[in-house]
Amino acid sequence: MNHTGAHKINHCLGQALLAKRMGKKRLIAETRAGQHGLATATVAAKFGMECIVYMGEVDYKRQRPNVFWMESLGATVVPIKHGTRRLKDAVTAAIQDWIANVDDSYYLLGSALGPHPYPSMVRGFQSIIGLEVKEQITKYGETKPSYIIACVGGGSNSIGIFNTFLDDKEVNLIAVEAGGKGVKEIGDHASRLNNDPKIGVVEGL
Ligand SMILES: Cc1ncc(COP(=O)(O)O)c(C=O)c1O
Repeated sequence: MNHTGAHKINHCLGQALLAKRMGKKRLIAETRAGQHGLATATVAAKFGMECIVYMGEVDYKRQRPNVFWMESLGATVVPIKHGTRRLKDAVTAAIQDWIANVDDSYYLLGSALGPHPYPSMVRGFQSIIGLEVKEQITKYGETKPSYIIACVGGGSNSIGIFNTFLDDKEVNLIAVEAGGKGVKEIGDHASRLNNDPKIGVVEGL
């Protein structure tokens, strides 16, 4: 319901301030649904930075309204036409751009993932969600929720709302991933960790 990329604006504002402090002039991002790209385009416009958003061609076509909003905010949106033409190849393109332009560019990662310190940073910036829940629930005469249910893509909104309550055993934390046609059908669901997980290299040669 937030028009600047749902909750993604939380970690985008924090990371854009960091990029500015580091003297970077250009923000690089990847996006799938378009929410993270839209939030990155918003903060780039706010801080007067150049913005380039990589998007798999399939998502680029499917999420046309968000492409329109990103472009309206001054971002360049690049559809990736090779490989799966989805998020995976958009991430690779973003990292390649970052490696080539690291002097003036900041890679504004879109969720609680990737190498340290990205997951910790995103958790920190998103933790405002849990802190606000803790404050707002007092208006209903409660001190804490008994259940918190959050959807998981990369994990940014879930860790943001869970973080405040991680050590409280009375608060039940439930994360929900998209199951598609069932976790056994590789490629037909968004759940990455349930189906015989193995340690491996995410990005690298
Ligand atoms: C509105 C919204 N909520 C949640 C998510 C899931 O992302 P995450 O798990 O990083 O919170 C997305 C992903 O694009 C999103 O657009």
